[in-house]
Amino acid sequence: MADMNDIQSFIQPYLVPEGSAELNKNLEAMAASFAVTDDKIREIIKGFHASMKAGLERDDKDALPMIPTYVCGRPTGKETGTFLALDLGGTNLRVCQVTLNGDTTYSLVQQKFTITQEAKESRLWDFIAECVGVFLEEHDLHPPTGRRSIPCGYTFSFPIFQTSIASGNLSMWNKGFTVPNSVARDVVNLTQSAFQRHHVPVEVVAILNDTVGTLMTSGYSHPDTQMGIIFGTGTNAAYWEKLENIPKWVGEDRSGEMVVNLEWGAFDNATKVLPYTPHDNKLNRKSPNHGLQVYEKMISGLFLGEVARNAVLALVDQRLVFNGRSSDIFNKSYTFDTAYMSEIVSDETPDLSVVQTVLESTLDIPLTTLLDRKVVKNVCNMIGTRGVRLSAAAMSAVLLARPELLTNTVSVGIDGSMYQFYPNFERDLYTVSRVFLGEDFVDNRLKLHLAKDGSGVGAAIVAMTVDRDREHHA
Ligand code: BGC
Repeated sequence: MADMNDIQSFIQPYLVPEGSAELNKNLEAMAASFAVTDDKIREIIKGFHASMKAGLERDDKDALPMIPTYVCGRPTGKETGTFLALDLGGTNLRVCQVTLNGDTTYSLVQQKFTITQEAKESRLWDFIAECVGVFLEEHDLHPPTGRRSIPCGYTFSFPIFQTSIASGNLSMWNKGFTVPNSVARDVVNLTQSAFQRHHVPVEVVAILNDTVGTLMTSGYSHPDTQMGIIFGTGTNAAYWEKLENIPKWVGEDRSGEMVVNLEWGAFDNATKVLPYTPHDNKLNRKSPNHGLQVYEKMISGLFLGEVARNAVLALVDQRLVFNGRSSDIFNKSYTFDTAYMSEIVSDETPDLSVVQTVLESTLDIPLTTLLDRKVVKNVCNMIGTRGVRLSAAAMSAVLLARPELLTNTVSVGIDGSMYQFYPNFERDLYTVSRVFLGEDFVDNRLKLHLAKDGSGVGAAIVAMTVDRDREHHA
């Protein structure tokens, strides 16, 4: 097995012996800059622990946000009922009607709406209300007898500082959203007002991050779930923490546990630990949230393709690939979708014909040579490998923060396009984590589960609990 502390293990696989010395010199430097050695991961884990601890103590812009979520009860798997759930992700809005069967299984009817650019930039709240209105109409849904509105769980995949289970102020937009007049305001209020404007009879009874939804959904089917992760358009995680370990929690009861939303995409915003390359810096400088979510920008689906595009263009500019020519499409930011990277890295055809189709037909690059295609595949692999190693680093750090849990089986619920579609992502997560969490634990007790549609189902589970408690106290 390759020694992942030896920088050569990160360089040799990406050199192309048939290429020029100049090309190989550049590939060598590029591969070294994207390398994340085992020692680097140890440093990242240490940095994570310090930042988690600081974030649990106080809200500090240099620490991880570590947001208390007001979710305190683990699902039992016995919950029953049908609930409405909204899931606002980075790419789609899903409106779902979730049925919990009470036997650890669930089913759902859902409608997916692609979030328009206009909604991302301005009329998001009205867009949401319109989509929910369409769903209610198409499925003929009405408030339950004796009630004026349909209770609903709301998964919101952006950082909010919660002030209760059903309110939270937006900390910032990310993933390309820039809706004005929203930061520092209560997003439940903003959504609820849009419902009123559009006469949509729905009441948000709980708001939660998508990682919390994923954690709850996985917990519904696997009671030993300790963590929920999204590796998708964005990335983040939530985990169970003892209230006594959250000094900044102001509630009176400090005896139980609560789900904490790490917002780990913000790790190292102070840029002390991570290995930044010029290609990351270029992306970061041009992004609307410049200097923020720097970890996410090295890991998640929205950004990996763009880092790869920057890296390939650096080779084009030196006339080392494509005979120095690019295309109008490839010159434009964010045109190299991470889904293309997935196709490219899994191309095993002798003449790399899949890579050729992506480059020539989709991206309109004029004639590519086999050498060009090999180089592009290698660049994608460097960046994909860095992404999965950093993903495993973050997951390992969180699990190592609760070492007492690791003597038992631990389930981790995961959702998102990187986890589902990036080649060998899950296998590599296991392989990399073995080094830091130990072979015995990873091989025998760690269970990674796809929590499919987890954010929507989780919203229904939390809404159900809240609604049940409210009825109980009414
Ligand atoms: C957001 C998180 C979210 C994650 C995954 C990040 O950009 O800040 O709140 O959980 O994406 O969707």
